[in-house]
Amino acid sequence: MKISIFGLGYVGAVSLACLGRDGHEVTGVDIDQNKLSLISSGKSPIVEAGIVDLMGDVVASGRIHVTDNAEEAIASTQLSFVCVGTPSQPNGSQSLDALIRLSEQIGDALKTKDRHHTIVVRSTVQPGTVENTVIPIIEKHSGNSAREDFSVCFQPEFLREGSSIADYDNPPMTVVGVQDERAGELLRDVFGDLPCKFIQTDMRTAETLKYACNTFHALKIGFANEIGRICQVLGSDSNRVMELLCEDKQLNISTTYLRPGFAFGGSCLPKDLRALLYFAKSHDVDLPVLAGLLPSNQIHVDHAAEMILERGERSIGVIGLSFKSGTDDLRESPLVELVERLIGKGMNLKIYDPEVRVSQLIGANKRYIEEIVPHIGSLMCESVEEAMQGSNTVVVGLQGRDIAAAIYENSKADQFFLDLVGVAQPEKLKGEYRGICW
Ligand SMILES: NC(=O)c1ccc[n+]([C@@H]2O[C@H](COP(=O)([O-])OP(=O)(O)OC[C@H]3O[C@@H](n4cnc5c(N)ncnc54)[C@H](O)[C@@H]3O)[C@@H](O)[C@H]2O)c1
Repeated sequence: MKISIFGLGYVGAVSLACLGRDGHEVTGVDIDQNKLSLISSGKSPIVEAGIVDLMGDVVASGRIHVTDNAEEAIASTQLSFVCVGTPSQPNGSQSLDALIRLSEQIGDALKTKDRHHTIVVRSTVQPGTVENTVIPIIEKHSGNSAREDFSVCFQPEFLREGSSIADYDNPPMTVVGVQDERAGELLRDVFGDLPCKFIQTDMRTAETLKYACNTFHALKIGFANEIGRICQVLGSDSNRVMELLCEDKQLNISTTYLRPGFAFGGSCLPKDLRALLYFAKSHDVDLPVLAGLLPSNQIHVDHAAEMILERGERSIGVIGLSFKSGTDDLRESPLVELVERLIGKGMNLKIYDPEVRVSQLIGANKRYIEEIVPHIGSLMCESVEEAMQGSNTVVVGLQGRDIAAAIYENSKADQFFLDLVGVAQPEKLKGEYRGICW
């Protein structure tokens, strides 16, 4: 395939060398003459394992060509990768200067091209940038229409500096956010043989995914380092602790707890987090990542309350009360807290949870409910139907096929459903539907 790459920094130079190695004819474009001279003489503009030999070989093969002329590059290729930088500005926002300038150049170049062209944005960009900035600029400058005359898609780049050639050949996945099938098919031709899943999705999901991945990586490092600092004062072996933590592939290194939903609660997580933070504080160890978890959780409960209260409806049916489906444990249940908040605001509540029989509660669970919402017993219903009857708003806080079926069946067109758990078939609900964070 004839491919052009705009921006020959860390991402662009590696892509240029690897695509050339794989037999494509590649035109590299940069505004930095120094980089162009280095590549045309078979040298690498970046330091990266294996790149020196690879660049030398592919340049010698004659499949690589470099230029500072965008028009020439667009005219002689069918597919362009955009790898220009999107650096931070002093206020934390992202500079799109290079991307905007390049989109103008691509648009100008497409004005004189009569064949279809596909542009793949690989720079990390704020979600919405491709549809709201890149495409309108190219359309304006070319006088052409996206999807018809040219395609633009977004493909997040997952390679890591230092091992980027190995990562290019063995990525965790290939994800392409597309507006039209054509771009997806073309990228499948280029990357479909890599030993990973090829996943096509919408543009905004692909753009957001890149941020979610990088933020998750940063979170993992911050977490491991904070556990390390607390281990240091405890005299525990931090390496061994984290090694064993990673041994657990069921709860720790797994998809468990990685789905957007409602706040955490229960008798362990908040209590143990508080204890660890207290211990750290008493040893003058700052753990801001871990210290942010309880406030973050609280904000999530506040968010649910606001989504209900902003509607101004007073009758609310709550399905679920315990801290998670399948238990009667009410201690530190975020649903109990939500209920308490709504009662405090004068709402009329009806609650149903098949596991919670207030008259049968015992021990710590009983004491907890007596202290937090002592009059809760009078709000409890015997069925989903009863809790939903006459409620303007229904809060779905319980999972389970039977519960979901009863909620679908009893739903009414004038009801609002706030889903905290991710019901399987929201389209079966007759009223208005919103997820807590989707
Ligand atoms: N570095 C990484 O490991 C990595 C990994 C994944 C994603 N990304 C993302 O990829 C993008 C590129 O990152 P990078 O580290 O390769 O950047 P970089 O700064 O190393 O390279 C960007 C290149 O673009 C060139 N450029 C600027 N304007 C241009 C124009 N109009 N035409 C042609 N070239 C132009 C610059 O001269 C520079 O050589 C960023 O959005 C980054 O966030 C980087």
